[in-house]
Amino acid sequence: MRFVGIDFGWERGASGLALLDRDGTSLKLRELELREEPREIVRWVEERAGEDAVVAIDAPTVIPNKTGMREADRLTQERYGRYDAGCYPASRARVYWKRTTGFAKALERAGFAHGGEMAARAKGRWQIEVYPHAAAVQLFTLRRILKYKRGTVAGRAEALGELRSLLLHRLPLATPRLAPPELPEIPKGGRALKQVEDKLDALLCAYVAAHWWYWGRTRNDVLGDAARGYIVVPHRRTGAVPLSDLRESYLLAGLDESAMAKDAITQFEEWFEQARTAGLPEPNAMTLATATSNGEPSARVVLLKGLEGNSFVFYSNYESQKGRELDENQRAALVFYWPELERQVRISGTVSRVSREESEAYFRSRPEGHRLGAWASEQSAVVGGRATLEAALEQARVRFAGGEIPLPPSWGGYRLKAQAIEFWQGRPDRLHDRIRYRASGGVWLIERLSP
Ligand SMILES: Cc1cc2nc3c(=O)[nH]c(=O)nc-3n(C[C@H](O)[C@H](O)[C@H](O)COP(=O)(O)O)c2cc1C
Repeated sequence: MRFVGIDFGWERGASGLALLDRDGTSLKLRELELREEPREIVRWVEERAGEDAVVAIDAPTVIPNKTGMREADRLTQERYGRYDAGCYPASRARVYWKRTTGFAKALERAGFAHGGEMAARAKGRWQIEVYPHAAAVQLFTLRRILKYKRGTVAGRAEALGELRSLLLHRLPLATPRLAPPELPEIPKGGRALKQVEDKLDALLCAYVAAHWWYWGRTRNDVLGDAARGYIVVPHRRTGAVPLSDLRESYLLAGLDESAMAKDAITQFEEWFEQARTAGLPEPNAMTLATATSNGEPSARVVLLKGLEGNSFVFYSNYESQKGRELDENQRAALVFYWPELERQVRISGTVSRVSREESEAYFRSRPEGHRLGAWASEQSAVVGGRATLEAALEQARVRFAGGEIPLPPSWGGYRLKAQAIEFWQGRPDRLHDRIRYRASGGVWLIERLSP
């Protein structure tokens, strides 16, 4: 699926163009360009869009009214006026109307139907009208729009720098995820500034196209309608949604026993690799559940640091709460959750310590600060204040200055030998796929569980 953003020159001049490609579960920025002529832009889009694409245009694409204001503009003004996102009322009295609507018509002739009614994740060629200022307010939870279109050159450059930083740092954390893009630097002023502005706006439009395709109406508003003109605006993440209504629809994939590896670890490696290549933040973060000998449970996140045979390796402090619990009770469980892939993996088994040599080898590979930190922290013990910790770190720094930082006696690795591994894939209507592997006499028994 491809997504194109067009910061259209309403009356004349260059338009910014951005092309995103959905690769695995991440969006990748493929092109960021400028083009002058609407005809040239249509060709640019046609050459790149492929069969399945959503094109988002920052310009009024449907204007049936001779004068006055479109319903879409009225609603936009009503909702976003308070963020200073004033909307220009589009009508046929405006000089640009033929150019902007003509452009949308040319796209229609190229097969891009108006997508204000399209279903989420529909295939095919679509176009939508968008409004980047309102989109930025929503996607980035802004109190006011970023004023990079108006005002002094220095003020515009500063606001554009903020937009650049939000695109760069926030969209990689959003869903759908944008792989950190390479973006042009903000020039000091003049023509070059306008060009970068057109490109960054186009990228924002392209992201809105992807957001609309991915979430449909569950996380976007359509202001107006296809006959009278409409604008698609993303929703603010989830802030205003009551907890009881926070739920996703799982549509990405299914699990078929026949297509899964015979070996649970091979299957895990495959999913883990997919989580890695999808660019998820910390795909190796897993929740580790332990319990005392009388069954008092506790859980926390640790990082997977290796796979050895059927064992999952992580490192920690042997005298921490988890360390003490694992001394008493070797039964433990791990959970990975990769929301962007709509996947969960549950593992249960028995934990033992890795060899001292193995812990030493791993410890040596850690950055110096982490090694000193391991000396400074009596993990899980009550500490008087932050200053105590910092003093302990400083002491460790002095103690090992210039020399090797050895492995602390209370620090090292654990391996959880898996006895069962369950692969969970979210599916529509809560009929999720669950495939569980159980180790039995040197082989894995594979069973499907009811969701
Ligand atoms: C993303 C993430 C990764 C973590 N990785 C580790 C780790 O690899 N080892 C570890 O001991 N603690 C790790 N922690 C901290 C633990 O969650 C926990 O705070 C700490 O181990 C103390 O837990 P305990 O008191 O239950 O023993 C991590 C926390 C987070 C959020």
